[in-house]
Amino acid sequence: MIERRIIVALDVSDAASLEQVVFAIPPEVCRLKIGKELFTALGPRSVEICHRAGHEVFLDLKFHDIPNTCAMAVRAAARLGVWMVNVHCSGGGDMLQAASDVLMGESHRPLLVGVTVLTSMDSESLREVGVLRSVEDQVCAFAALASDAGLDGLVCSAKEAFDLRALYDADFCLVTPGIRPAWAAANDQLRVATPHEAIVAGSDYLVIGRPITQAKDPRAALDRIIRELG
Ligand code: C5P
Repeated sequence: MIERRIIVALDVSDAASLEQVVFAIPPEVCRLKIGKELFTALGPRSVEICHRAGHEVFLDLKFHDIPNTCAMAVRAAARLGVWMVNVHCSGGGDMLQAASDVLMGESHRPLLVGVTVLTSMDSESLREVGVLRSVEDQVCAFAALASDAGLDGLVCSAKEAFDLRALYDADFCLVTPGIRPAWAAANDQLRVATPHEAIVAGSDYLVIGRPITQAKDPRAALDRIIRELG
């Protein structure tokens, strides 16, 4: 069912704006993503608001720290009862392994996914931070690290999803942001794809933020995306 594969990015910073979107969208239709803006502003209360409305939550805090600190943050996320949590693959193999291992002892185990190369970056911005590989090669290197450490999947653009799908089994999930319906603005995203392109490329979950949350009617925007995919 396509609906449950859409994750709406709740990039808002106050409870009123959050509740407006959370209660406009029924949990049967999508999942929700809480990122740094919202979690910094409202903390665990933001997760509680979503859970109270019956939604499953992807806690997108992209942890990147020394292995122990990262692992403890992942454990704290698990204890909030979230459905999915993520870490930056650029934290390295030891950090990824620690994050993966810590979940073994938890009664609730969220899906743990690794962020590869942000969809706002291209080869030029990678060069600025000292990465001379192409985006594709860097994503593949990160994918191998994540898979070796036992992560459940990756965050990657639709462009890379196609190659990764051929390399990894279906249970290694691919989460794709940078999704823009043809009728929406790209904003600051550089490597964008339409929802249809992402699904065809092999993405399991589509992260869509501003085209829905900044629409006059978020539910109507979401329904339109689902209809166009149908
Ligand atoms: O509004 P928009 O659809 O661009 O929102 C995309 C969301 O996905 C944002 O919350 C952003 O932080 C997140 N994200 C991303 N690129 C990644 C990982 C996460 O855009 N590689």
